[in-house]
Amino acid sequence: MSSLPLLISTLILSSFYPSYYPSFVDAFDCTFKSTYPLAYLVPYTSTPPPLTGNPDSPIWKNVKSSSPFVDITGNTSLPPRYTTTFKMLYDSTYLYILGHLQEPQIWANQTKDNTVIFQDNDFEVFVDPAGSNAMYKEIEVNALSKVWDLCLNHPYSDTGYENSTRVTIPSYDMLPTTSTSPNWSPLKSAVTALPEGSINDPSKTPSEGWGVEMALPLVGLTYNTTALTPKPKDSWRINFSRVEWRVKVVDGEYVKDPDYPNEDNWVWNPIGVVDMHEPDKWGIIQFGDLDGGQGEVEILGSWGVRETLMNVYYAQKSYYGVNYEYTEDVGVLDAFAPVKGSCLECGVVDVEVEGEDWTAVTTVGGWKGKVNQVRYLEVEKVEG
Ligand SMILES: *[C@@H]1O[C@H](CO)[C@@H](O)[C@H](O)[C@H]1NC(C)=O
Ligand SMILES: *[C@@H]1O[C@H](CO)[C@@H](O)[C@H](O)[C@H]1NC(C)=O
Ligand SMILES: *[C@@H]1O[C@H](CO)[C@@H](O)[C@H](O)[C@H]1NC(C)=O
Ligand SMILES: *[C@@H]1O[C@H](CO)[C@@H](O)[C@H](O)[C@H]1NC(C)=O
Ligand SMILES: *[C@@H]1O[C@H](CO)[C@@H](O)[C@H](O)[C@H]1NC(C)=O
Repeated sequence: MSSLPLLISTLILSSFYPSYYPSFVDAFDCTFKSTYPLAYLVPYTSTPPPLTGNPDSPIWKNVKSSSPFVDITGNTSLPPRYTTTFKMLYDSTYLYILGHLQEPQIWANQTKDNTVIFQDNDFEVFVDPAGSNAMYKEIEVNALSKVWDLCLNHPYSDTGYENSTRVTIPSYDMLPTTSTSPNWSPLKSAVTALPEGSINDPSKTPSEGWGVEMALPLVGLTYNTTALTPKPKDSWRINFSRVEWRVKVVDGEYVKDPDYPNEDNWVWNPIGVVDMHEPDKWGIIQFGDLDGGQGEVEILGSWGVRETLMNVYYAQKSYYGVNYEYTEDVGVLDAFAPVKGSCLECGVVDVEVEGEDWTAVTTVGGWKGKVNQVRYLEVEKVEG
């Protein structure tokens, strides 16, 4: 999906409230529970999935399905027209993803990898293994199983740019053709149309939908981040999205419906704005035990420090929008967007500004963290 300028109007709204306005007390307590995103436990598998794209393959049968996707705005009056869900598995080499998309009219036009796949209907995965809002990976796939995989050094709105073979050589690319590393595992994907043969064939309307299986190399996903190959209980940030264009049939061919010039964006965990490039608002996956069990997801201990620092980030953006400079005064920032709310256990937030750059550090609930002007977030557990 397309990137849009950062929208901060909703945050400016909060500047009409004094700090610690009572209605924020629950929302901004120390656990920051109300902003906790959707989470999914990824079971370990000792047998790789068949990678046919068929959602009915026996290996997926007992794996829990995600909740159905919702509109990206989170507006419940805009329910997606068709259901989308995913399932995931992992082993020591790959993160496996099954996307299941209900779709009466299956079509795809992009016939080459590393093209702008979201011009077609697609299934998209965003992965931020270190939860740092930096060096995150995006994979888009269409019904012909054509893949665009890219690495974003930062979100577009934070000076980020795409690194993929679409725009730059040498490039980040999970495919083996551009890598000299002997340990590289190629990205793989496969699509099954249900019923078979219904892609780009309006005479088969309505079709049931399509399934897509992807094997995403862990080496490629963790590339240039502090994250390592996942162990049980490790957590990553992840988001899924589906782009859906309205089409009609003209002379036996699907064409985009000119009455609907904009695509719909349906997502797992709603972002609130039409922009997937806010990694701090993505969902969370936790890797399961090596026995393959699917227990409950544990709440991230670092959530409090992450949310406090992201509140500082959004408050700085908002403050800059009005004052054309950043501030070191947390009390002033708090009036723009509540930073700590009622969290009395939050440590002191220290902000340092140097021209157009700033850094904020704090400690919450035994976790120390740091964020800067391009949203780059680092957290670590405080020893002892
Ligand atoms: C949600 O969508 C409905 C239907 O389009 C619209 O009327 C309403 O204004 C939207 N609500 C918000 C908060 O945008
Ligand atoms: C893109 O990533 C590749 C490595 O995969 C690197 O060699 C190249 O310098 C990067 N390009 C840019 C513009 O960052
Ligand atoms: C890895 O990331 C750093 C920034 O975090 C960047 O400076 C460097 O160019 C990246 N390396 C490659 C090979 O892309
Ligand atoms: C697919 O490509 C064909 C050939 O360029 C075009 O006529 C058609 O409108 C495209 N379909 C959609 C849905 O974009
Ligand atoms: C992506 O993150 C945004 C922000 O939390 C969320 O609204 C959206 O639902 C997420 N989408 C997915 C696919 O997780």
